[in-house]
Amino acid sequence: MTDFQHAQLDWDASGQPLSRTYGDVYFSRASGLEETRYVFLQQNRLAERFAALAAGEVFVIGETGFGTGLNFLCAWQLFEAQAPAGARLHFVSVERFPLTAADLAQALTLWPELAAYSTALQRQYRAIHPGFQRLVLDEGRVTLTLLIGDVLERLPELDAQVDAWFLDGFAPAKNPEMWTSALFAELARLSRPGATLATFTCAGFVRRGLNEAGFAMGKVPGFGHKREMLAGALERPLAQATPPWYARPPRHGGARTAVVIGAGLAGCATAVSLARRGWQVRVVERHGAAAQEASGNPQGVLYLKLSAHDTPLSRLILDGFGLTLRELQALPPGAAWSPCGVLQLALSDKDAQRQAQLAAHFPADLLQPLDRDAASARAGMALTAGGLFFPEGGWVHPPALCAHWLAQPNIELITATEVVDLQETATGWRIDTKGTALEAAVVVVASAAQARRLLPELPLKAIRGQLSSLPVTAQSEGLSSVVCGEGYLAPARDGHHCLGASFVFDRDDSEPSTGEHASNLQLLAELAPDLAASHRPEDLTGRVAFRCTSPDYLPLVGPVVDEASFAERYQVLRQDARQVPDLPAPWRPGLYVNLAHGSRGLVTTPLAAELLAAWLEDEPLPLARRVAEACHPNRFPLRRLIRGEG
Ligand SMILES: Cc1cc2nc3c(=O)[nH]c(=O)nc-3n(C[C@H](O)[C@H](O)[C@H](O)COP(=O)(O)OP(=O)(O)OC[C@H]3O[C@@H](n4cnc5c(N)ncnc54)[C@H](O)[C@@H]3O)c2cc1C
Ligand SMILES: C[S@@+](CC[C@H](N)C(=O)[O-])C[C@H]1O[C@@H](n2cnc3c(N)ncnc32)[C@H](O)[C@@H]1O
Repeated sequence: MTDFQHAQLDWDASGQPLSRTYGDVYFSRASGLEETRYVFLQQNRLAERFAALAAGEVFVIGETGFGTGLNFLCAWQLFEAQAPAGARLHFVSVERFPLTAADLAQALTLWPELAAYSTALQRQYRAIHPGFQRLVLDEGRVTLTLLIGDVLERLPELDAQVDAWFLDGFAPAKNPEMWTSALFAELARLSRPGATLATFTCAGFVRRGLNEAGFAMGKVPGFGHKREMLAGALERPLAQATPPWYARPPRHGGARTAVVIGAGLAGCATAVSLARRGWQVRVVERHGAAAQEASGNPQGVLYLKLSAHDTPLSRLILDGFGLTLRELQALPPGAAWSPCGVLQLALSDKDAQRQAQLAAHFPADLLQPLDRDAASARAGMALTAGGLFFPEGGWVHPPALCAHWLAQPNIELITATEVVDLQETATGWRIDTKGTALEAAVVVVASAAQARRLLPELPLKAIRGQLSSLPVTAQSEGLSSVVCGEGYLAPARDGHHCLGASFVFDRDDSEPSTGEHASNLQLLAELAPDLAASHRPEDLTGRVAFRCTSPDYLPLVGPVVDEASFAERYQVLRQDARQVPDLPAPWRPGLYVNLAHGSRGLVTTPLAAELLAAWLEDEPLPLARRVAEACHPNRFPLRRLIRGEG
C-alpha cells in the first residue's frame, strides 16, 4: 500500500486529462464517448445482452483501469436504456491510481449528456482507499466495486464471474507491466463460461496471450484512426478450485422472501442489502422498537483500528469504513451523524511506533500524524499527546442509521416479537415466535450474542460495556473532533458527550455502575485530564449494552452448515488437515448469519450485509476472498476438526 498515489494528471487545452505517470491519454481526443461505445459496449454486444436479461438477473462487467469512470458511466447509461426492471448491473473495475474526487469531477464535466450518472457517481466517490471499495448506485440497481491497487495484486483477490470484460489500461507500449500473461490468466479465471472481452489494442502479444489463456480473440476494425482492435470470448473455461466449505452455496431459486432476526445495525443493514436486490424482507425484533441494544447507543465512533500488515481484520475495516461513509451520505449531518474527524492519540511509545508504521503504510487522505499542538488545535481542546487524525471519520447516532435503512422499500419491521425456534420446511423456514409463526424462504440470524439460543454451536460471547453521558461544560463545548485512546469522547450531541467505554467480562446485567463511570473518567484523564477532573462519577448517567464477539474478533457472515454432518463428512481432516474432500458442504439451505461485530459494528455491518447478499445471490464478493473466508461461519467447525476437538 505504500506505493499508493492518486492519478497525477495534466490537462490539455481542450480540458482532457493526461496521465503524467504513463504519458498517455485517458480517452480518445476525437470522442471518448463514441470510442467507449464502439470498443467496449458494441464489441461486447451489451445492448442486446442487457435487453435479454430477466428480472432478478445480474450482469457482471469487469474492467482494468477505472480512470475517469467514462466506460462505467456509458455502460450504466446503456443498461438504463436496455435492461428490464428488476435486472441489475454489477461493474467491477481495478484502478491503481484513482483520480481524486476533484479531478474526477473536472474530467466528467466533459460529458454533459452523462450528467445524471456522473453526479450520482460523484456523490458516492469518497473514501476510495486501497482495497475493495463498493459503491451502491440507483437504489441498488447498479453496484460498482472498485478494486484499488495494482491489477496483478487485486484481481487474484477477487471472487466473481464476469460476463463481459473491458480490457482497458494505457497502451501496452506505455504500460507493459500490466499487459502480462498473469493478467490474461486472471481474466480467464474470473470469467463465466462464454464471457466476452474487448480491448482497444490489437498488439500481437496481447492477442496471443489472451488466446493462450483460453479466449478466442479476433481482429475487428478499430475506432476512428485506429485500424484494428481485438474482440472475442472465452472458449475454454477454467475449473475453479475452492474447498467445499468455502464454496458458494447453491443459489436459492424459490420465493425472494426473507426474515431477518434482530433490528440492530447488522439486521437493518442486512435487510436493506436484500431489499435493494428485490427481496421482500421482514425484520423481527423482540423489543418494541429497532436499535434498543448495542445499536441503541447515542453516539458510536467511526473508528479504524488498522494494521500495517494487511491482516483480514484491517482489510475488512478499511473496506467497511468506505461503504459506511457512502451509506451515511443519505443522511444530513447533524443529529444523525457528524463527519468531524477522529483523533487517535498515541499514549505510549508502543502506540507511537505503531502509528508511525501506519502513517508510512496508509495514504494521507485516510490518516495523518499530528503532534500534540496540532492535535489539540484539531480537537479544540488541550490534549495530552499527538496521534493520528482520520479526517473522514466521525460519530454516528446508530438508531438514526437503523431507522433510515428500515424506511427503505420492501422492508417491514415487526416489533415486540421474540423468535424462539427455527424449523426447516419444504419451501424454506418456519420462524417460531412467542406469538404467530412466520414463513420465509431465507432466514438471517442477526441477533448478536442472543443468536446462541437459536444456534447454540456458534462460538459467540457477550461483553458488557458502559457509556457515560457527560453534560456539556464551557470547557468541553468547543470539542470539534472525536478523541480516542483506550476510551473515546465525542463532540456534543443533544447537550451531552458520549464517553466510552468499559469492558466488563463478569457481569451480564444492564444496570449502569458508578465504578464503570469512574473507569471511563480514567480513560478520559489519559486524553484530557482537566476535563476528566471536572466530572464526578456519581453525578453521571449512562447506558449499558453488550458487544457480541467471536474468538478471533472477526464477524461471522455467511451461510450455515449442519455441524454434525460437517464433522462426519470431513472427518479425514482430523488426520490430515491438507485433505480437500470432494464432497459438498452440508448447507442448511437458506440459513445465514450476520453476527459478532464486536466494538466496530458501524464500520463492519454494511459491508457484512453486502457480503451476505453476495453469498446468497452468487454475486461478486465485496471484499478479498481471503477476507470473506476469514469471516465465514465455517471457519470454526473447520478449525475444530483440524484441532481434533468435539
Ligand atoms: C458500550 C459500547 C460501545 C460501542 N461503541 C462503538 C463505537 O464507538 N463504534 C462502533 O462501530 N461500534 C461500537 N460498539 C459496537 C456496536 O454497537 C455493535 O457492533 C453493533 O451495535 C452490533 O449490532 P448488532 O445488530 O449485531 O447487535 P444489536 O444492536 O445488539 O442487535 C441485536 C438485536 O437482536 C434482537 N434480538 C435478539 N434476540 C432476538 C430474538 N430471539 N428475536 C427477536 N429479536 C432478537 C435484539 O433485541 C437486538 O435489537 C459499541 C458497543 C458497546 C456495547
Ligand atoms: C486509459 S485509462 C482508463 C480509462 C477509463 N476506463 C475511463 O473510462 O476513463 C487507464 C487506467 O488504467 C490504470 N492502470 C494502469 N495500469 C494499472 C495497473 N497495473 N493496475 C491497475 N490500474 C492500472 C491507470 O491508472 C488508468 O486510470
